[in-house]
Amino acid sequence: MDEPRPDYSRTELYAEADAFIRDCYAELGRASEVEDRLDEIADEIEQRGHYEHTPFELEHGAKMAWRNSNRCIGRLFWQQLNVADARDCETAREVHEACCRHLKQARNGGDIKPLVSIFKPEINGERQVRLWNYELLRYAGYQTEDGIVGDPDEVELTEYCRSRGWDSDKSRFDILPHVVQIRDEEPELFEVPESAVGEVRLRHPEYEWFEALGLRWYDLPVVSNMRLEIGGIHYTAAPFSGWYVSTEIGSRNFGDRDRYDMLPTVAEKLGLDTSRDRTLWKDEALLVLNRAVIHSFQADGVQIVDHHTVTDQFEQFEQNEADAGRDVTGDRAWLLPPMSSATTHVFENDYDNSIEKPNFFNQEPPAELSERRGSVGR
Ligand code: ARG
Repeated sequence: MDEPRPDYSRTELYAEADAFIRDCYAELGRASEVEDRLDEIADEIEQRGHYEHTPFELEHGAKMAWRNSNRCIGRLFWQQLNVADARDCETAREVHEACCRHLKQARNGGDIKPLVSIFKPEINGERQVRLWNYELLRYAGYQTEDGIVGDPDEVELTEYCRSRGWDSDKSRFDILPHVVQIRDEEPELFEVPESAVGEVRLRHPEYEWFEALGLRWYDLPVVSNMRLEIGGIHYTAAPFSGWYVSTEIGSRNFGDRDRYDMLPTVAEKLGLDTSRDRTLWKDEALLVLNRAVIHSFQADGVQIVDHHTVTDQFEQFEQNEADAGRDVTGDRAWLLPPMSSATTHVFENDYDNSIEKPNFFNQEPPAELSERRGSVGR
């Protein structure tokens, strides 16, 4: 998934298109249309060095990309992916506005719908759209004299935004603006309007003091920095979202030492002996954080799934794929939940981590951000 972006020659592009069109049309019961469509694509590539997906090719291609995402435990629902065709967005503002529509449509009042919004792809090697944000909702991180305030993972983007005139409260939970780049122009910044933001304040079903920690998290994980590749076409901006697995927030975002690092604080509130690892204070604190996340999302009517349920759903996905005669590929280290992993069936299994296409791929971060990463010593 971290492979460099391939630059396809015309012949290679056609070969990628050929493989995709055959799979896609076979799955959709349209095999009889394949040869005509491939002739059309061959002509288009010959004339323009490029071809355009029809709406149903885009939709099914995106679903296949989700199905092939080796690190995703939530793939049971791949057929329910909603696809917003945003290829007509020309300006940075139009892209930002489509991102805000994505947030509202995916949120759906708490009954979250899986959604991908697909912007203009690269045309003849020229990138048209790029989102600098990791996710469409994310908290800023500030380097201060007393350490980092906010999300340490976002210090570079935050510094960049501030260098571009973005002003904020410097609180622990400031939503970053959308940073949208058209071709190789200077990116434009857009504050995310309140109407597009949803957040859950965290409290615990039994510990009243928990709420006073002042923790909160946004309701929707919309990964916006990955490249979607379908039939040799590179969609460099294709933000996608499902709903959260509670451990993503409770174990990783708040538990990781290089993120919000809340385990020591929670353990102290619980009165645990943190002087030695063998008291298992970290494990107790993790459990308390995770219960708070599930409880709060559920109380606010925001869909969330726990790590046991989502792993059972993944087992069903594996069964469905076997029934459909397809092999499931997977990245075990990513599929294992970040707590109680041995209670899940993934623990006993091996997964073939080969990369099928269509798929989502990591992209090189914008150079301006990696330079900043260097400068803050992370
Ligand atoms: N782990 C990321 C986060 O905490 C989200 C990745 C995608 N997760 C998902 N459930 N679709 O924000």
